[in-house]
This record gives sequence, structure tokens and C-alpha cells, in this order.
Amino acid sequence: MGKEIKGFSKLSKEEKTNWIVDNFFKETEASKIILKQYWNDDENLQRLHDEFSENTLSNFYLPFSIAPNFLINDKIYSIPMVIEESSVIAAASKSAKLWSSLGGFKTKIISKIKNGQVHFTYLGEKELITSYFNYIKPTLIQDTETITSNMKKRGGGIIDIELINRTHDMKGYYQINVSFDTVDAMGANFINSCLEQISKSFKEKSSLSEEYKIQPNDITIIMSILSNYVPECIVKAEVSCKVEELDKIENYENYSEKFVQAVKIAQLDTSRAVTHNKGIMNGIDAISIATGNDFRAIEAGIHAYASKEGKYKGLSKAKIENDMFNFSIKIPLALGTVGGITNLHPLVKLALEMLDNPNAEELMQITAAVGLAQNYGALRSLITSGIQQGHMKMHLINILNSLKANEDEKKLAVEFFKDKIVNNRNVQNYLIKLRNSDEL
Ligand code: MEV
Repeated sequence: MGKEIKGFSKLSKEEKTNWIVDNFFKETEASKIILKQYWNDDENLQRLHDEFSENTLSNFYLPFSIAPNFLINDKIYSIPMVIEESSVIAAASKSAKLWSSLGGFKTKIISKIKNGQVHFTYLGEKELITSYFNYIKPTLIQDTETITSNMKKRGGGIIDIELINRTHDMKGYYQINVSFDTVDAMGANFINSCLEQISKSFKEKSSLSEEYKIQPNDITIIMSILSNYVPECIVKAEVSCKVEELDKIENYENYSEKFVQAVKIAQLDTSRAVTHNKGIMNGIDAISIATGNDFRAIEAGIHAYASKEGKYKGLSKAKIENDMFNFSIKIPLALGTVGGITNLHPLVKLALEMLDNPNAEELMQITAAVGLAQNYGALRSLITSGIQQGHMKMHLINILNSLKANEDEKKLAVEFFKDKIVNNRNVQNYLIKLRNSDEL
């Protein structure tokens, strides 16, 4: 362990594999076989995957699953989801089916603006930098023309650009805040390219404006980068029905009321809010990965949004008014359906096709509905049977696999544990007994 190497990235894939295997694994041949057994026979497909990243040794499988029967704005969807956690897909499918019988999910886009900032310092007079900014602003936009022309043709581009004085937070600190419409692209590269051009022009062109007495050296560009905090890129999803109807379908007394209380607890208590939101992200991450979106950006933006009132809160809301139950979510989702790996990864292409090739706004709405469904499914279990019943039933298969149970043993074990507590020890004991019996 703890070996160092120079020039690893320059080695061939075979050489990298050999170095890792020789230096880190006891079972060198067996480890090599494991790494290689995930390689694709189709060399072109394998190269495509290798080139998504750097220093690639192998492929890492995750299940690509489907949650069917999502009725969203009166259209039925089968949702592609990539996730390793058992019971997430089952919960999403169950919620989708239930709500499709009650009118389905209603969703809408509230706003769709992204943003990024040039962070810089300037130690001179505030009035001078403000006047210079106002003077140079049209030029800053003009200078991005070659980057924005295609985006403009598609109906997007730079929406606005403003100077923000942050000198009260840090000596000489200002931002140029730029807002963007990136249409159907997530737009990270587009935004960053625009910001870098703006920062360059802003600094360099100060020499042209003698009037403002600012020289390029007076402006220090710290960095230019998009923000994954997108509180103006918001989508809402909701479900509603009569309280009586829901209580009856769920076959549980005061179900709706208890549900509303559970959602309220996530608004009040941060410990619960984090787990509540984690359940929502089970759905959102899974569809985001399947559709080739950057789930880390989405996670970061959503969790920051959950803290927008100065305290981390649950992302969903539930209420009962005039005997109607309403459950909703309003979240920031900067998603793309073009660019990135969306038209490169064969499974991502299939996932998008399965969703009827949505544009970014449609994908935002579908994704918000999936998050809400996932949250509904988790809360439903939590306030009725408890989470472990469903969870451990699904987890049983993982335990059986880790104990190398064969298909017949798995079938018998699933039947046996229908009404019993699933844990490692119980499953292990069951298998020992089964293998010593003549039941197989
Ligand atoms: C588990 O992955 C997610 C839950 O913990 C979410 C929740 O508690 O709401 C079940």
C-alpha cells in the first residue's frame, strides 16, 4: 500500500492495470481477471467509455432499472433509473401506480435561469469601477458573440450581467454576476467559456477607458466559474386528492394527517430533514444518472436550496385543506438533454428516448415528479409498516448473494422470510439448515 508512481497517465491501459495489480493486490491474476471481465468485447464501445474519463481501468456496473406507470401532466412515462440501492425502484413504482389512479403528478416550470460569476478584486474607488462596468457592459456581452451565437439561435444566451459589490465581505472583492438561458443544455462549458471571456475583456479593456482611471493591473481576476446554486431554475411537482380517498386506498386510519405531520417534522428538524431529502435524492440522482446529467451539481444545488432560509429543511410540503390532501415539491434542477454525454452514452440515449426525447424543461418536470414519488414512497412506509420491512425484503437478495446462495436457495429463502426478520445472522442460519436438509 501507499506506492507512488510518476507518469501513470502516460502508461497504456494494460500497463496501468499491471502496475495497480502488482502493487495493490495479493491475488494478482484473480484481480486482473476481475478488472478485465467488465471490459466490453466491442472495442469501439469500450474506447468510448474509457475516454469519458482518465486513467480508466475497467467499467463499473450499476443496475439500469425502470419504474413504470408515472402519470405526469396526463402523459404516461416509464422512468429509467440507475441506482444500486434495493427497494428504491420498488418504492418509486408503487408510488407512481398509486398516484396514477388519483390523477397523477402535475408539474410546472417556475423559472429557468442559470448563473455564474467572475470573482475579482479592485482596491480603488467604488464609483470608478461601477462607472467603468456600466461603460464596458455592452462590450463584455459583444465579446462573447462567437461563444453565444449558436446558443442564441436556439433561443438562449446571456440574459443579464451585473456588478455586485462585496467589499463589505472581503477587501476589494467584487463579482460580475452573469445570468444565462442555456435552453436544453446543462450548459456548464458554455457558461464557463462566456465567463472566462468576460473576465478577460473586463480586465484588458480597462486600459481603453482613460476616463475611469483604471488600468488592467488594478483588477485582479480571482476566478470565473458557473454556480451550481440555481435558485432561479425551479420546477414544481405536486399530487393531490381527497383525504378520504387516500386514507381508503392506503387502508390506514388518519393516514393523510400522519403523512402531513411527517413532512412537517422534516421542516422543523434538521436531523430528519437530511434523511427526508436523501430519500428524495434517491429518485432524482437515479434518473439524473440514467439521463447523463451531473448528479453532483444537482445534489449541491438542491441541498443549498434546502438551506435557503438559514436552516436546512425538508424539500417537500404537505397540507390538508378543505378535505383535500396536497403534497408538493419545489426544487432547483439545472438539467440538460443535449451536450455532455447525452448523445454519446448508448444507454443515456435509450433512457432519453424512453422518455420521448424530452427537452430540458420536460426532463426537469419528470425528475421533480420522480423525487416527489420517491419521497412519498419512503414516508408511506415510515408512517405505516416502518422502513425495514420493505428494505430488508429487498436486501435479502443482497445477503443471499453475499452468502453465495444458488437460485433454488434464493427462491426458498424469499418465501421463508416473507413474515420473518431479515438480518445477516438469520439468513446465514437459515441457509445452513437448508443445506443440511433435503428440502432442496
Ligand atoms: C433510504 O435510502 C431513504 C429513506 O431513509 C428516506 C426517508 O427516511 O425519508 C427511507
